[in-house]
Amino acid sequence: MKITKICCIGAGYVGGPTMAVIAQKCPQIQVTVVDLNAERIAAWNDENVNNIPIYEPGLDAIVGEARGRNLFFSTDVDKAIAESQIIFISVNTPTKTYGKGKGMAADLKYIELCARQIARVAKDNKIVVEKSTLPVRTAEAIKSILDNTGNGVQFQILSNPEFLAEGTAVQDLLNPDRILIGGDATEEGRKAIQALVDVYANWVPEDKILTTNVWSSELSKLTANAFLAQRISSINAMSELCEKTGADVNEVAKAIGMDSRIGSKFLKASVGFGGSCFQKDILNLVYIAKSYGLNEVADYWEQVIIMNDHQKKRFSNNIVQTLYNTVSDKKIAFLGWAFKKDTNDTRESAAIYVADDLINEHAKIAVYDPKVSNKKILDDLNYLETRTAANNASSISSFTDPYEACQNAHAIAVLTEWDEFITYDWQKIYDSMQKPAFVFDGRNLLNGPNLEAIGFVYQAVGS
Ligand code: NAD
Ligand code: UGA
Repeated sequence: MKITKICCIGAGYVGGPTMAVIAQKCPQIQVTVVDLNAERIAAWNDENVNNIPIYEPGLDAIVGEARGRNLFFSTDVDKAIAESQIIFISVNTPTKTYGKGKGMAADLKYIELCARQIARVAKDNKIVVEKSTLPVRTAEAIKSILDNTGNGVQFQILSNPEFLAEGTAVQDLLNPDRILIGGDATEEGRKAIQALVDVYANWVPEDKILTTNVWSSELSKLTANAFLAQRISSINAMSELCEKTGADVNEVAKAIGMDSRIGSKFLKASVGFGGSCFQKDILNLVYIAKSYGLNEVADYWEQVIIMNDHQKKRFSNNIVQTLYNTVSDKKIAFLGWAFKKDTNDTRESAAIYVADDLINEHAKIAVYDPKVSNKKILDDLNYLETRTAANNASSISSFTDPYEACQNAHAIAVLTEWDEFITYDWQKIYDSMQKPAFVFDGRNLLNGPNLEAIGFVYQAVGS
């Protein structure tokens, strides 16, 4: 089947960059990204590519090249579905906040809405691709909805999970470790798989395109995220032991990472992992395991989350304890609010939870993040519903100048590993702070001995 038109429902952190790269690499294919969120689509269509809604290094150039040529952003979901041969579903699948599975299961209401809309609109055969991260066996539910439409249309459902990481999305999409495509073993299923393989083969070497059955593909995505998050919780668990024993977690990570069976990536101790997916996907995995009665499996993976919550908590506890057991009315400067560097995404960022703890202790938080707005910071805190919005607003402020954020502060907490923090004039910052001037480096980013030579009391994670 020659593919000339595809669309993607969901213009978020995955849908936007993924489709931009497909459009750039496949000029012969018309790619339309649709979303219900008109404001988001307007931002994707902003004449100035600097104003696209997602900050990812290199993305503006790709959007600038392909947009209007074969890349389109629109709110007309029906039209895009009707026209396309392949429909990617890349909508959000957050943790349920209500009802059965509350706080654990993935909320599939947006996925179901997409399936129903495709079922209603499609007048010819379609390949429907699960790009969102979904519980294993979701394709079954989607198929059941699609096959009961009465339009007499044939649907093939593929699972094609996305493995990009934010901050490196463009590089990850251009040079993926692998592309995973799960589909049916029937002849029609194999044809659908091949159609999608052919799209990726425009730039991905074929030996990196892996095809499996649908269930393996769905479960591989949850497994990959669980393994990645597990490494962080494992090294963070060791960081606490290092602090008690005089070992240094950076040295331990290096020593174990040189074992080729372990590998050196993803062993950076931190204030705890954030992001929209690790926690959500592991909770979902735990829920699935429990739903099959696999309690030991569920408990094993749940520990990754418990450890991560502990790591965030002990970071804020340590700040309070070190500042003579009180931070009441003390200014604490936060360098960074995003969940990692090179993104404007703050979902589940450790910074939110650390701020919440410190505000409970009546601290005044002053945030500087190069890509996150004051409104976003307040929205993130208000979402926790710990206190009134007015109380949050009077407890936290944000600055566009890092030196101002740090001025008169009792302590600085590094919450995101933005490169620019390393290059600051730390003497100038020290001179403007209350003494003793503390730095709590939640990312092991800064040069401790240099800061100590200036006069700071410097504390890193795991040493
Ligand atoms: P997102 O919230 O940034 O984007 C989802 C978009 O879908 C939103 O703009 C929303 O308005 C839109 N949407 C929801 N329902 C819709 C509907 N019925 N019709 C049209 N638009 C609709 O989410 P995201 O970060 O892009 O994640 C999407 C999926 O990809 C999730 O399942 C996530 O687990 C997975 N994933 C995310 C990442 C990541 O780094 N963020 C990486 C890999 C996989
Ligand atoms: C993660 C995975 O890396 C992607 O493969 C996956 O596609 C994505 O989740 C998803 O499914 O959403 P992402 O969350 O964007 O990507 O970013 P990561 O680089 O994985 O970082 C996640 C969190 O872990 C960040 O807060 C980061 O600072 C933290 N981290 C990462 C550490 O604390 N230590 C490390 O060694 C690595």
